[in-house]
This record gives sequence, C-alpha cells and structure tokens, in this order.
Amino acid sequence: MKKSFFAVVLLGLAFGVVANVQTETESLYKEHCSSCHGVERLGGMGPALLPENLSRLRKSKALSVIANGRAATQMPAFEAVLSAEQIAALVEHVYTKPKHKPEWSDQDIEASQIVNFKPKELPAKPVFDADMMNLFLVVELGDHHVTLLNGDTFEPIHRFKSRFALHGGPKYSPDGRFVYFASRDGWITKYDIYNLKVVAEVRAGINTRNLAVSSDGKSVMVANYLPNNLVLFDAESLDLMNVYPVINASGQTSRVSAVYNAPPRNTFIAALKDVKEVWEIPYRSSDTTLTTGNRVAEVRTIEVNDYLDDFFFDPDYKLLIGASRDASGGQVVDLDQGKVTSSIPLPGMPHLGSGITWEYQDKQVLATPNLKEGKVSVIDMSNWEVIKEIQTEGPGFFMRSHEKSPYAWVDVFFGPNKEAVHVIDKSTLEIVKTLRPSPGKTAAHVEFTKDGSKVLLSIWDMDGEVIVYDATTLKEEKRLPMVKPSGKYNVWNKTQYERGTSH
Ligand code: HEC
Repeated sequence: MKKSFFAVVLLGLAFGVVANVQTETESLYKEHCSSCHGVERLGGMGPALLPENLSRLRKSKALSVIANGRAATQMPAFEAVLSAEQIAALVEHVYTKPKHKPEWSDQDIEASQIVNFKPKELPAKPVFDADMMNLFLVVELGDHHVTLLNGDTFEPIHRFKSRFALHGGPKYSPDGRFVYFASRDGWITKYDIYNLKVVAEVRAGINTRNLAVSSDGKSVMVANYLPNNLVLFDAESLDLMNVYPVINASGQTSRVSAVYNAPPRNTFIAALKDVKEVWEIPYRSSDTTLTTGNRVAEVRTIEVNDYLDDFFFDPDYKLLIGASRDASGGQVVDLDQGKVTSSIPLPGMPHLGSGITWEYQDKQVLATPNLKEGKVSVIDMSNWEVIKEIQTEGPGFFMRSHEKSPYAWVDVFFGPNKEAVHVIDKSTLEIVKTLRPSPGKTAAHVEFTKDGSKVLLSIWDMDGEVIVYDATTLKEEKRLPMVKPSGKYNVWNKTQYERGTSH
C-alpha cells in the first residue's frame, strides 16, 4: 500500500518535471523564436522548424546555428541570451512533432499568394541577348540564390535570391520563358526569365518535395509531405485549382515523394511514400471546379507490390520503373494495364530518378547509379536483365548524358571518394576517365549544353564552383565561383525531355 503510494507520488513528480521542462521550453520558443519561425513552427521570415523540414540538418548543426547564429542571415546568436541547457532543450523541441498535426488549408494557401505581376503584364520579349533555349539555371543552395547562365558564353546573366532551401529541381514552362521553383517549406515561385522578375508566389504546403508542370503549360502540380496531399495550381496566376488529399481505400494517408509530368499521357504521376499505390491524375483546365467531396474521383490509383518512391519512365511513358527505398529491386509498372509486369534485381538501392537511356548494341538500355553500392547498373529494357554492373569508387547520385555525346557521366556522391566523377563510354560500358577537379570537395551533378558539346559540373561546396568541360576532349575550359551549387538546368534539355537528363 505504502509502496504504491510512493510510486504514484514519484511518477507524478517525474511527469510534473517533464511537463515543466516542456512548458518552459515552449515559452522560451515563444519568447525568442516564434516571431521569425512562427508560433506553430510553420515558418515566417525564418524557415519552418518541424522534424520533417529539418531532416537534412544534423542536431549538432542546429545547436551551433542557435548558439552562434548564421553569418550574413537574420538568424541571431543566442549564446549570450540562453544557457547551454536551454539551447539543447530548444533543439529537442524543434525536432519533436507538434502535439497537433500541422494543417495547411485551402484558405491558408489562398491567403499566402503574392502576385507581383498580373498575367501578360510583362512584355514577352527578353531584356537581354542570348540563345534563350541554351540558358542554364544554377541553384546555389549555400546562400539560397539562383544564377542564370548563358549556355554559349558561360557568362552569368543574373543572380537572384530564392526562397529558403529549394527542393526537387525547378521546372520550365514548355516555351522556356517561365520557371517554377519549389522550396522545402512549400513556397512555389514563378519566375519570368525574359524579364528577370518574380511573377507570383504561393505557399502550397508546409513541407514540399517537388513540382511538375503540365505539357500544355497550363497547370502546376505540387507534391507535399506535409500535409499529405497534392496541390494543383493554375500555371499562369498560381491561383489554387485543386487539392488532392492522399489517402487509400482503407483510410491510410501518405506523404507524396514526388510528382512527375507524363507528356504523351497528359497526366501527372505521383510516387507515394506510405501507401503501396501509384497515382495518376489527368490534366484539367481551370474552368472546371470540383467540390471537396469528389476531389479524389478523378484520380487513377495503381496498386503496386511495394512502397515506390523514386521513378523512371520509358521514353514513351508507357512503363514506369519504380524503386523502393527499403526493399531490394525495381518494379516495372505497365501504366496502360495498370499493374506490375516485371521486377528488376537491383540490390544496391538504385536512384532511378536519375536514370538515363541510350542505344547500346541495338538495344535500348537504362543506366542508373545506386545509393548504397559503388556501381552503375545497366539494364536491357527489352527484358529487364541487368547486362552490366560498372564498378565505381562509391555510391552515386546523379547520372547524365546527351544524345550527341558518346559519354555518360556519374558522380560518386557518397563516401570518401566524393571528389571523383567517372566518365563512361556508352558504346563499351567502360569507365574511360575519372576526374578529380577539386581534391577533397564533393563533385556532383552534371548537365550538358543544348547541343551536347559542353558539360557543366558542380563543386558542391560553400566555396564551390561550376566547371565547364569540353564534352568530347574532356578538357576543362572554365571555372565559375558559386556558393554550394547543386543542380544545373538547361532550358532545351529539360523542355525537350532529352533522354540523357532526368525530368
Ligand atoms: C530575427 C529572426 C529570427 C529569430 C528571432 C530566430 N531565427 Fe532561427 N532563423 C532565422 C532565419 C532567417 C534563418 C535562416 C538562415 C539562413 O538563411 O540560413 C534561421 C535558421 C534557423 C535554423 C536552421 C534551419 C535550417 O533548416 O537550416 C534553426 C535550427 C533556427 N533558426 C532555430 C531558431 C531558434 C531555436 C530560435 C529561438 C531561440 C530562432 N531560430 C530565432 C531567423 C530567426
């Protein structure tokens, strides 16, 4: 009797202490952080501070950001204001899920919209002179900027600030005039390349993966982790057109890993993280309105054998090859039949989103780097057999080629050899050269010019560069200093769905 009485008291004390620390931390957050990061941690002037959004930031890094601030940004240092314990408690706090699942309603989306220029207000004539189809956008992750680069002279045309932490690759309008960016925290930005101006912005969600632009250039679909949905916008105005909550027949909701445009099908195709389904949604025009009740009615769901969250499409968009992040292998989904028709033995966790195709000995092959093993898998697309595994110096992330180039390039993104980039001969499937342009620094992501004659490679570092190579001689031609440049996006290759680049 006595024992249990003490136990109850002790338990009560313990809970009381935990609860106290919690509320103490909450009020610290409210006092010192909420003005910039939002009361609900959804972001404001500063980025959102939720576990999903912080998944790429190590806790130790977060600790030092809070203690020391971030140079040249509005993030202040709290070392002098808060104790080490308080800072540590705040780190735990921002990596803890909030008690209520954060919501982002239609009204929130609509209220967030910023229209700087009405459609057609800006002239349809470039304010600079260049081959508009051979421009590059370079995302500089280090200080959240984008550089517009002339793809003939490799002179920067303009550099502008992006939203915090762009994610998933910008997408061009079919005519190449506009580009749409998605940020980690859900901001969608429409940018007019001809006029070098932000046209409109809207916040589609709280934690966003990527976006896709329809082939008719009329709509933009956004894939969200938070909330679990897909959001459709009018491409001209960024007016909200529709929200598709992602939920299966048994009520299980899912994060959306990515959304893709499937040009010949006139559909968007979505990869889901938590449900074993692939979703296909036909384009629709802005003049048809749907009510909440029948929103999901137009979605075609295809059941698959595993959680597939990384896709590759054959050039006709009849087949989808999906990779699961957990299981071993790829699955081939016939999109017309709506079912899985083959599986591919790929134990190294392929990064199919970066897969490319070319002709090899009269066969069409698919080549993909692997995230867990140092090899490139080359697959015969007629029977899905792995015909070669090209050994590399470590797991790779990006692979690129161009129809006019005899070579395919693959980086070594993970591990001690991240400074290396391999050049593979597409006709022999052998590595012909390994480049180490900046010893000790990560070399990653290549993109070709429109005609395939030059290759651009990123030195993925705060003190980084974009390096231009001759695509035939493999000789270095130019270095452009940039702040952690990641992806480079050539207008022509992306709008023409060049087989050597990802879409
Ligand atoms: C005056 C505004 C302001 C205040 C107050 C503020 N922050 Fe920040 N914080 C920012 C901005 C802006 C950034 C983004 C900096 C950048 O561009 O890298 C940031 C970044 C961060 C990051 C890194 C996020 C990431 O994804 O890299 C963390 C963590 C963070 N803040 C935590 C806090 C905490 C905890 C507090 C309160 C103790 C706080 N901040 C108070 C503006 C602020």
